[in-house]
Amino acid sequence: MKIENLVDLLIGDLSNEYSHMHFYMQASTNVIGLHRQEIGEFFAEQAQSEMKHVEEFRRLVQGLITRRGLDRKVPSLVAEFKDQLRCPKALLRAALEMEDKVVANYVFRRLEAECVGATGDPEDKIDATYIGLFLEDQILDSRGDADNIREMLVNDLDLQ
Ligand SMILES: [Fe+2]
Ligand SMILES: [Fe+2]
Repeated sequence: MKIENLVDLLIGDLSNEYSHMHFYMQASTNVIGLHRQEIGEFFAEQAQSEMKHVEEFRRLVQGLITRRGLDRKVPSLVAEFKDQLRCPKALLRAALEMEDKVVANYVFRRLEAECVGATGDPEDKIDATYIGLFLEDQILDSRGDADNIREMLVNDLDLQ
């Protein structure tokens, strides 16, 4: 895989991060029920943290485009997300699915970055290592979120 292909995949990942931000934003105001206040605040915090991810991905991709002189622009596309949910449990289940999925995605993306690093070009090696470290941070963050949400849903998911 070439660095250009990896950057295109990261641009797709950015649109996913946008969708996560939108999901949590709508969840924080759409949620209903007795625990609306508390769960709404949790979703609002998550939206803030996704906004940070969006910023980080935008900076990563822009940095690679400039450094490698690639013919690409950093888009602001939003991937599809569930925007009709209001029930707290349904919202939390959707969030858990999203976070588990993104962890798996970045674990795989990290392996793809390693392939780019193996081309023999020192520039590729450096960029691939940097991207790998970047993705590790994202994996840690999202896995922590997924585990937290799973704990919130223990009774619901019959995990006890
Ligand atoms: Fe994220
Ligand atoms: Fe997240």
